[in-house]
Amino acid sequence: MQEERLTTLISSEAIADRIAVLGDEIREVYGGEPITIIGVLKGSFIFLADLSRAIGGDAKIEFLGVSSYHGGTRSTGVVRITQDLRHPIEGQHCLIVEDIVDTGLTIDYLRRMLEVRGPKSLRVATLLDKPSNREIAAEVDFVGFTIPDEFVVGYGLDLGELYRNLPYIAVYSP
Ligand code: IMP
Ligand code: MG
Repeated sequence: MQEERLTTLISSEAIADRIAVLGDEIREVYGGEPITIIGVLKGSFIFLADLSRAIGGDAKIEFLGVSSYHGGTRSTGVVRITQDLRHPIEGQHCLIVEDIVDTGLTIDYLRRMLEVRGPKSLRVATLLDKPSNREIAAEVDFVGFTIPDEFVVGYGLDLGELYRNLPYIAVYSP
């Protein structure tokens, strides 16, 4: 790991504090209703683990495999589904959980793909939001942190599959 390239942006304590608040906010929106939480692989796996426990109540956990990057630090704009949901979502309250919304292309694509399956509701929670880099107006319901247009790694986010297990969010300087 090339630690000299990493600058802490959000500490693990700050992430934990924010997720506790976000979890309460999300649970309040749904009340006692069950939710289907859909994690977008791979980047959301750590956030999903913490957020789903902070939300509490009745929840199913599902995963969608998506690949929109091909190893670099720029989005290609091409969204490829590498693993579809295992179960129908018709009539269910669905919450898509993303690691980061950058250009907005992935979330826009996923919303359109899932909406036609007839969920009772469809919302999006993202740990990080980089609004300055949007290429398409993407609707995001819950945001952990709004960050500047920097390439970040850690807490699930990778650079060429590395750094996902970093316990905090860091800016990567090439
Ligand atoms: P989009 O540009 O909004 O479609 O974001 C697509 C995906 O790119 C996100 O879900 C992340 O997996 C990845 N991504 C965007 N920005 C970063 C970053 O700063 N670090 C790591 N991955 C990123
Ligand atoms: Mg992602």
